[in-house]
Amino acid sequence: MITDILEKPASSAIDPFSAEYFRDPYPFHAQLRDAGPVVWLEKWGVWAVARFEQVQAVLGDWRTFCSGAGVGIVNEKKMGGWRKPSALLETDPPEHTANRAIVSRILSPVALRALRATFEKEAEALVSRVVGAGDLEGMADFSEAFPMKVFADAVGVPVEGRHHLVPWGNMVFNGMGPRNALFDRAMANADEVTAWISAACRRENLTPDGLGAQVYKHVDAGEISEEHAALLVRSFLSAGVDTTTFAIGNALFCFAQHAEQWDMVRANPGKVKHAFEEIMRFESPFQTFFRTTTRDAEISGVVIPQDSKILISVASANRDPRKWDRPDTFDIGRSTAGHVGFGAGIHGCVGQMIARLEVEVLLTALAKRVSRIEMRGEPERLLHNTLRSFATLHVRFHA
Ligand code: HEM
Repeated sequence: MITDILEKPASSAIDPFSAEYFRDPYPFHAQLRDAGPVVWLEKWGVWAVARFEQVQAVLGDWRTFCSGAGVGIVNEKKMGGWRKPSALLETDPPEHTANRAIVSRILSPVALRALRATFEKEAEALVSRVVGAGDLEGMADFSEAFPMKVFADAVGVPVEGRHHLVPWGNMVFNGMGPRNALFDRAMANADEVTAWISAACRRENLTPDGLGAQVYKHVDAGEISEEHAALLVRSFLSAGVDTTTFAIGNALFCFAQHAEQWDMVRANPGKVKHAFEEIMRFESPFQTFFRTTTRDAEISGVVIPQDSKILISVASANRDPRKWDRPDTFDIGRSTAGHVGFGAGIHGCVGQMIARLEVEVLLTALAKRVSRIEMRGEPERLLHNTLRSFATLHVRFHA
């Protein structure tokens, strides 16, 4: 138990769940970073870390900053959650370690090699449809269309009813925020969506050769129960659709805004992979999540009591001038090593290699055919408790 107050904690009236913040979080990030290494958020009675150094430190210490009480604002151990906790995202070792080992193998780069040719074929087909098609809504017609096809096929969920995947992601990620209008709206059709997702994760409804079916091999090996396997498959569907959709949308936005960076990609398609890392840093699709202190803890001299919720702004860490040179400049030529857009530590995104594969093949296909991505009208910013992207993004792809 830490009894000495080492540093007086900074306190802030900033509301990271307000529309103003969602529309343009960057000035607020700067204020939070400048306020101190850890800041008390008055409105919600939680702590926040927004500097790179402290974000990394918290993510690296799962013993002190756990995920088992949920990674949203609510302490699910005390208050309960709206769904059965994720067997990955919302567990701690040793349970997490065992589950993670199963999923890591299924999503390893070697295992994913088999998917590349199909992803490439689908990317070419999608790009052929959109090039020269005039004005398009870049979120629904492009950014969402791709993962909804290739990722859902790869997992092996039924084609019928796939439209439920988007509302499910919406429930998962808006459900990490406080009980605001976004939370309530996301949960509006919860029973129907949850019923479809639960059914889609069952062995009999998965294709026999997909990533989902591979989880069930561990049931056959006597390692886990059927119910547990379904929960692991659910984690693919929870974390794998919206995140990638929004990353692709953010990529379109960045390249529409910075035509010279798109020209660089086109001149050297080998840069696509790296360009995606810069998109992840510059416009992080996954902005924030929480940890909970398992004991009285200290962050840079500030004492945080046990059972406190801490908001971790990975998006802010990714633009911290203490870490990055010209953090607010989108530059695909810079080093992005160490960005925390996929998190870090034991919960660092287990699906990052499949996300990278999807975006890489899609942007590569686009770069071959599209000389300019033009934004048509003002994009409509998505207001979202956790993720950052667009509700609508009207674009034209010029051949
Ligand atoms: C660009 C797209 C993606 C982004 C930005 C993203 C971001 C993240 C982040 C930040 C975390 C860490 C959360 C935490 O520490 O509490 C995470 C974890 C996770 N992600 Fe992703 N993700 C993406 C794509 C995917 C995909 C395609 C899958 C598909 C399987 C996936 C599955 C997961 C899972 C299961 C976890 C939990 C891992 C664990 O707790 O051990 N993600 N992701």
